[in-house]
Amino acid sequence: MKILVGCEESQAVTIELRKLGHEAYSCDLLPCSGGHPEWHIQGDVFEVIESRKWDAGIFFPDCTYLTVSAEWCYKNQPELKSGKLVGEKRRLARISAVQFVKDLYNSNIPLVAIENPIGALSSKFRKPDQIIQPYQFGEDASKATCLWLKGLPLLTGTSDYPPRIVDGKKRWGNQTDSGQNKLGPSVDRAKMRSKTYPGIAKAMAEQWFGGSYMIQNLRVGDYFAHGTEEQYRELLTIEDYPYKALSIEYVAERCTHEGAIYVQKSTYHGSELCLSVGFGTTELPFEEFKQRAINTFKQTT
Ligand SMILES: C[S@@+](CC[C@H](N)C(=O)[O-])C[C@H]1O[C@@H](n2cnc3c(N)ncnc32)[C@H](O)[C@@H]1O
Repeated sequence: MKILVGCEESQAVTIELRKLGHEAYSCDLLPCSGGHPEWHIQGDVFEVIESRKWDAGIFFPDCTYLTVSAEWCYKNQPELKSGKLVGEKRRLARISAVQFVKDLYNSNIPLVAIENPIGALSSKFRKPDQIIQPYQFGEDASKATCLWLKGLPLLTGTSDYPPRIVDGKKRWGNQTDSGQNKLGPSVDRAKMRSKTYPGIAKAMAEQWFGGSYMIQNLRVGDYFAHGTEEQYRELLTIEDYPYKALSIEYVAERCTHEGAIYVQKSTYHGSELCLSVGFGTTELPFEEFKQRAINTFKQTT
């Protein structure tokens, strides 16, 4: 799949997606620090979105004007010597930061994930679909991280990193005993603090764009057959079928025009797997289904 990882200079997610064989690119105003400039597009994320057709986008927008910290800066007051935005200017900066996120979400990319800390987006955009913590993904760190998802499933924690206990309170490696972040404010530290944790990057790539995702989805096909996972895999090896890792919503939308092969977990028929082409509810024996699926595929390529 062609996947854009926008506002990512670390290339943490891009590298994990490349490991899975996807054509993934990071994009940031900054040069990349992940060591793969050949997979990096330095520039404005919206220009890159427009530059080609992307199957999916994962975005890490700047949270400077979106977080709940420094709320005092939004009140009217004299300008600060530090140059930090305050008052009306900061309120306007927040409005455009919210719009930035809305524009990413509403872009023509069918599958979208947006990551940001807890902050203004909950009220000014919408409530996040999920709030995750790095320690649920094997990282020695606490940082409540919101996800807004379009056509992608919630992430599942991979392994819990145990906290240390200080006066009965849970603390992780990035926190002082009193619960503050060990890295205080400064430009470099802000950059370090905003890099995606490797455990989360891996989970995003594998759970959203790894093979197992497909079998968690539900949809009714034009015709379908019940099959085992091996049969499903066999079918998908007929060619490098381009939509095999896409979400059902997206495939369903495309298949009215192009035909599609996808796998779904069937609840209404009580079997574990259900293979489908297009829309509808006609059940076929597996072999007939396979033949039709192959023909559909051939006709559309
Ligand atoms: C909160 S940081 C996210 C860092 C990311 N988690 C990583 O691991 O690289 C936000 C990033 O968005 C980038 N950025 C801000 N505006 C941008 C734009 N219009 N187009 C592309 N990147 C942008 C910044 O340079 C910064 O690196």
